[in-house]
Amino acid sequence: MDLEKKEYINKIKSLAREKNAVIFAHYYTRPEIQEIADFIGDSLALAQQATRVQADILVMCGVHFMGETMKILCPDKKVLIPDMNAGCSLADSCKAEDLQQFINHQSATSNDKPIVVSYVNTTAEVKALTDVVVTSSNARKIVDQLPKDAKIIFGPDHNLGSYINSVTGRNMILWNGACHVHSRFSLEALLQLKAQNPGVEVLAHPECKAPILAQSDVIGSTKALLDHTVKSPAKRFIIATESGILFEMKRACPDKEFIPVPPEVTEGIGCSCNECEYMRMNTLEKVYNCLLRETPEIRVPKETASKAISSISKMLEMSK
Ligand code: 13P
Ligand code: SF4
Repeated sequence: MDLEKKEYINKIKSLAREKNAVIFAHYYTRPEIQEIADFIGDSLALAQQATRVQADILVMCGVHFMGETMKILCPDKKVLIPDMNAGCSLADSCKAEDLQQFINHQSATSNDKPIVVSYVNTTAEVKALTDVVVTSSNARKIVDQLPKDAKIIFGPDHNLGSYINSVTGRNMILWNGACHVHSRFSLEALLQLKAQNPGVEVLAHPECKAPILAQSDVIGSTKALLDHTVKSPAKRFIIATESGILFEMKRACPDKEFIPVPPEVTEGIGCSCNECEYMRMNTLEKVYNCLLRETPEIRVPKETASKAISSISKMLEMSK
């Protein structure tokens, strides 16, 4: 039987205390999940924070790759995820065996061994094939530190890779993957919003397509966009990223207005907001049940984890 929201919140809090558990949430989760979280962050901050907390259980309210990253960084802790089906279309767009073939092909076409840079939105198996992982917060900083003449493979997000190529002057070889949420923002709607709201800054996540980024004033990770809204004296912003971030933006700046860019509507199908259905799989009921039963639990095979840890650790080192 469904418990009321308030009752769930109280029960989750007391279970977490009893079991020495810490609850993490990404900015794209439902408002009530962000409300109960001990820590909210972007992909980089969630991974960094996981290594700092003293806890027996980490509950990752986000998507599967975020739980895997935590488990790889904290192998002695139990990492729970409220719904094992909370995947990521971007991570799904790059299978480890396909990436291995791509690397083999690129290695065979020249004498230079490529450096493999993978976005954190990837499986543990892909991270195990990777030299250095990046997130949207640190991709530019890390790519800038790689040798100038290096042959670099970047995957899986083509939009982020193109953006990083444009700001670093590199010519990385790009995997052709994309996030289904970020690649469906409507350019037409954005242009209309800009015309209706002259002078209002556009804030976009680098997973958006190039024409959206070309119309944007600030491009950054969820945390960078949030920080910008707090620091900026402006009162209104147009936002091109998953709409869950609006909750934190409104909480941090209650006197400011945030206008979300809508998605393209394809053949009558489309939602009025840009929501990642995987992130929305995290509900209070599932958080409560996973803490109570201590399942579903994220497990990463030892051999994969021991290879993946070096590319994640390299990222943490290079982003200092
Ligand atoms: P951030 O690292 O910017 O939070 O992005 C994660 C993500 O999944 C974006 O779609
Ligand atoms: Fe993956 Fe896109 Fe959802 Fe982010 S918004 S978790 S990239 S599907």
